[in-house]
Amino acid sequence: MEEFNPWWFAGKVPAELLHKYRRKLFYDLAESLKKRYAASIVGLRRTGKTTLMFQLIQKLLDDSAEKTNILYFNFDEFVENLDDLMDTYRELKSKDLRNDKVYIFLDEIQKLSDWTNQLKKYYDLYPKIKFFVSGSESLFIASKTKETLAGRINEFRLNPLSFEEYAEIKDAENLPSAKMKALFSEYLENGGFPEVIGKSRQEIKDYVKSVVLDKIIFKDIAVLFGIKDTETIRQLVEIIASNPGMYLDYQSIAKQLDKDRRSIKTYIMLLNDSFLIKILGNYRKSKLSSIRKLKRVYPVDTSIIVAFNQNIDEKLIGQMAETAIVNRLHSNNFWKNSHEVDIIYEDMPIEIKYKRKILGSDISGVREFMRKFSVKKGIMITKDEERKISVEEGSISLIPAWIFLSVTKEK
Ligand SMILES: Nc1ncnc2c1ncn2[C@@H]1O[C@H](COP(=O)(O)OP(=O)(O)OP(=O)(O)O)[C@@H](O)[C@H]1O
Ligand SMILES: [Mg+2]
Repeated sequence: MEEFNPWWFAGKVPAELLHKYRRKLFYDLAESLKKRYAASIVGLRRTGKTTLMFQLIQKLLDDSAEKTNILYFNFDEFVENLDDLMDTYRELKSKDLRNDKVYIFLDEIQKLSDWTNQLKKYYDLYPKIKFFVSGSESLFIASKTKETLAGRINEFRLNPLSFEEYAEIKDAENLPSAKMKALFSEYLENGGFPEVIGKSRQEIKDYVKSVVLDKIIFKDIAVLFGIKDTETIRQLVEIIASNPGMYLDYQSIAKQLDKDRRSIKTYIMLLNDSFLIKILGNYRKSKLSSIRKLKRVYPVDTSIIVAFNQNIDEKLIGQMAETAIVNRLHSNNFWKNSHEVDIIYEDMPIEIKYKRKILGSDISGVREFMRKFSVKKGIMITKDEERKISVEEGSISLIPAWIFLSVTKEK
């Protein structure tokens, strides 16, 4: 336990654990320090969850919290139950959990069996404890989890770096537009794992496959959910990475992989719960059930696309731009009728056409949506073009992707 908490002696978090760049989410989490609820940090592997915890611990120390009132534990190390951990801490540091203001950081909490009930007990018994928990799989998969901790926990999602964060971490936020454009191309190819910055294309491919995907597939999914058929899951990732934005047709994927439809659906949901893919549904229920069930799927980071494709051509780069924007907006919907719109964001149609010249036919989906739902504004995300088009239905703003992603506010 003492090894996990070097600040008990040194009074500060060791520099190598801290990293000087603070993600946007850091500020939301710092705000939540004042709140009673437990804060959970969830997200894809290697996005920086543990680092965030250490940065929060350093902030507490900077704000003169008593150093031994901060406990960090990582459940990669096996402990049977939370009682053991808390008792050890209480005795070792002579803490009175009822009266001392203590901060407890529990990392990889999904590895603690029945963690929700265990946490609930401490949360209810000791109102002065502030909990932060973190995990790389969705901690709220079972609806029971939600019920157990209802009103007690708040989820904070950590995504791979956004383009804004990518620029910040490289100290490149306010470059002239030609340079920002080039930085955006670089971002699409490198993706948002903080660790890959400065690495070569081949190194990034190897990193994504061995450090991120293998861990999720062969450790998290296989062990935590008891799935043996890891090869099929790997193939699913490859299929999705090769066709970002593809329509999800469980039946035809099942046929292609010679598996049954139910397993494919289960595996896709596990990939979703592991934050590896992002699934979008069709906006507004149509009467046709086949349309209602339509879904599209994207990898959550463009580096996953690069990892599985030898040939990064114009078309794929367009799909990568689309992937970056879908993930950045956290939108849950596209729209398909006679035409299509890539994203519906707060009831506004956003179409991505990452190419040099926008043609009249490129805006037909956005127009159809505007007409159908009486919406006056649409957005078309482009590679270079920036202008406004007036149409019968209202106006459509053409915005280059790098500008759009530099000004979009985090939701
Ligand atoms: N703010 C940051 N600035 C620079 N690098 C960072 C930052 N956050 C994370 N990293 C890099 O990313 C790596 C992964 O970070 P971290 O271990 O915090 O992620 P994690 O989400 O806890 O991963 P895992 O799921 O494997 O536990 C770190 O080793 C570090 O190199
Ligand atoms: Mg971690």
